[in-house]
Formats: sequence, structure tokens, C-alpha cells
Amino acid sequence: MNIDQRAAPATRINVVVVAGARPNFMKIAPLMHELREDNRFAAYLVHTGQHYDEAMSKSFFRDLGIPKPDFNLGVGSGSHGEQTGHVLIKMEALLEERRPDAILVVGDVNSTLAASLAAVKLQIPIAHVEAGLRSGDRTMPEEINRILTDSISTWLFTTEPDGDRNLLREGAKPEQIHRVGNVMIDTLVRNLERARQLNPLEDLGLKPGAYGLLTLHRPANVDDADTLDGLFRALEEIHHELPIVFPVHPRTAAAIEAGRGGIKPALQTTEPLGYLDFLHLMANAKVVLTDSGGIQEETTALGVSCLTLRENTERPITVTHGTNTIVGTNPDIILSETRKILAGGAKPGQIPELWDGGAARRIVDVLVRDLRSEL
Ligand code: UD1
Repeated sequence: MNIDQRAAPATRINVVVVAGARPNFMKIAPLMHELREDNRFAAYLVHTGQHYDEAMSKSFFRDLGIPKPDFNLGVGSGSHGEQTGHVLIKMEALLEERRPDAILVVGDVNSTLAASLAAVKLQIPIAHVEAGLRSGDRTMPEEINRILTDSISTWLFTTEPDGDRNLLREGAKPEQIHRVGNVMIDTLVRNLERARQLNPLEDLGLKPGAYGLLTLHRPANVDDADTLDGLFRALEEIHHELPIVFPVHPRTAAAIEAGRGGIKPALQTTEPLGYLDFLHLMANAKVVLTDSGGIQEETTALGVSCLTLRENTERPITVTHGTNTIVGTNPDIILSETRKILAGGAKPGQIPELWDGGAARRIVDVLVRDLRSEL
């Protein structure tokens, strides 16, 4: 629907929800659902277009029943400056025209920061969902996006106690911080049964509990030839003991194409998968090896072993309470930690508090409480 055909009643709380890249889509799905069900809100969805193709964007809207965006900014790929700059320019114009009561941003991608910057200069309050996560590694573009977005947000919705502590240490006021749980786990809870009904394993020739699942896309891993080479060597060796299926992110596909990481690894590669197929593969894997942030949380929620191919995590609860182990990028450590799991030494995990499917509802309740009094 075109936004101009749906003039929002002045009495409703006007919220602009922003999504840009693949990990945003599973986070906004439950938020859009709650906001559109609640007639106290008029919620508009903006897709920045940071991710744009079928595999990285469109299939998620379809599978998760996310409403068609009211606006698509169409920014596409580019350098950090280009992506951030284009979203900033286009969001400023949109927000100036719409003047919402608040904008709601999720996660830590370039679109999250750019939309927030546009809003704060127009004095439109920002609600940041998944606030407070810190890896402590400022070479990660996402870490910069997190710190800056949190520093200009009004509402800071957190997923774990470390997030609260990080924000307090950086000077946030306690009344800004709301520990609500994890909207990505809302989506997982809502879709797990549907995902279990599918059978992507048959097509891939895999058996439940008898394969490893790999994802890689962090610039620090895939843009550096030596690191990628070391990772591929370790993973190929594991592949001889446990088949490894590897849906390849476009950044990583480009790196392999460019010859980084030596020869193409002899793993079972696929295109990036849709949400439900990927959830099915995660839920049935013996072990998941990844450098993603969100997958560390999803495996903890599923109780599936996760080995994180990074030196740090911004999601420490997945290590202290969940099934995640930080193994870094040293091939010997990756091999020994994987073999430990294959030998039956998987670490047991617990599901963190409030990762229960109700996070989006809690967020909407806080926004109603704080914004209704201002109307
Ligand atoms: C971005 C996010 C990262 C997130 C990741 C998940 C930032 C700084 N990074 O990294 O936090 O974990 O998305 O995917 O915002 N491409 C396609 N099709 C698409 C989208 C991208 O082929 O639909 C290609 C682009 O042309 C580009 C590459 O993928 O070459 C990387 O995309 P980009 O958005 O720049 O960053 P990601 O590495 O995906």
C-alpha cells in the first residue's frame, strides 16, 4: 500500500520501522505484527534496500509474512560511506515529511545507524532494539554502528544483562534501558514448527544430527586471504569426518571468486537459504560453525552446539549460559573443538531469561506507555 493512501488518524502513535539487511528482517517481523495488530499505532515500514535480492531479502518477507514496505529507499550495495550516506539523505527527507512520533531500528547494520542519525537531527526519538551489545572490537563496522546508535537513542531495548551493564557504563540513564528479551527468538519460536515440516536435508543428501552447518561473512574472516585460507583448511579436514553444508553469503562468494582463501573448498556449498530452510538445518545440525552474531543466539535457543569463528562475541550470554564456544580462527583449535563435540563432549546450555517469544509485545507495551502520554 502506498503510504499516502493511508492517512493515519492523528490520535494514533505514528512509528516508522526501519529494516535494511538480512539479519534485520527476522527482528522486525514480530514487531510489525504486534504494531499492526494494535490499533493505537500507525506503523510504517521502510526498507532501505541495503540487501535487495531474492535470497538476501525478498524470501524473508514472504516466509515471515512481513508486510510490503511502505517505502523502499533502494540504496543497494556500496562502500560504508556510500551506504550510510544514501540512507541518511533519503531517510531525512522521508522523516521530515512524515514527522513520526518515533522511529524503531533494530540491530547493528549500516542502515540502523544511518536511519538513527537522520532521526536524531530532526529530534525524532529513536527506539533501538538489541541495544547494548558490545564485542569490544572497534575494527568491526557493526561495533561502531552499535555504539553510535545507542548513544543517540531514547529507548534502549536489551536482550541480556551484559547489554544493560554496557549501556550504564557508557552513560545511559537506567530509565532508558528495558530488558525485554530477544525479538529474533520471537521469530524462531513462531516459525520452528513450520520449519520442522520442511525437508531440505533430503535434497542435500544429509541425515539429521549427522552434518555440520557453516556460515561465514565477516569482513575480518572473508576479506583477509590468510585467515580465509586457514579457515577453509580446517573446515575441509572436518568435512572428511562430518559433512559440512555451507550456504555462501554474497560477500564470501565474491571473496572465493577473487581467489582469496586459495582454492574453492571441497565443502557442500549452496546459495544463501531462506529463513525456514536454514532454521531446519540449524535445528538438526550436530554443530554449527559461524561468524554470525544472530546464529550464536539461535543455536542457544535451539540447544544446538555452536562454534564461533571469531576472537570475541558481543553476545556473551550465549557462552556463559548457552551452547556457544568462541574458537577464533586458529585451524588447530577449530579442529580440536569440533572433534570434542563429535566425541560426545558438547556443552549443555540453558535458554536465557525472556527469550520466550514475547519480546516484541514487551517493546510495544513500553512504547505505548511512554508515547501515549505525549499525544
Ligand atoms: C551486512 C551487515 C552485517 C550483517 C550482514 C548479513 C553492515 C555494516 N554489515 O554485511 O552486520 O551481518 O549484512 O548479511 O551493515 N549483496 C548481494 N545481494 C544482496 C545484498 C548484498 O549480492 O541482497 C552483496 C553486495 O553486493 C556486497 C556484499 O553482498 O558485495 C556485501 O553486502 P553488504 O550489505 O555490503 O554487507 P554484508 O557483508 O552483507
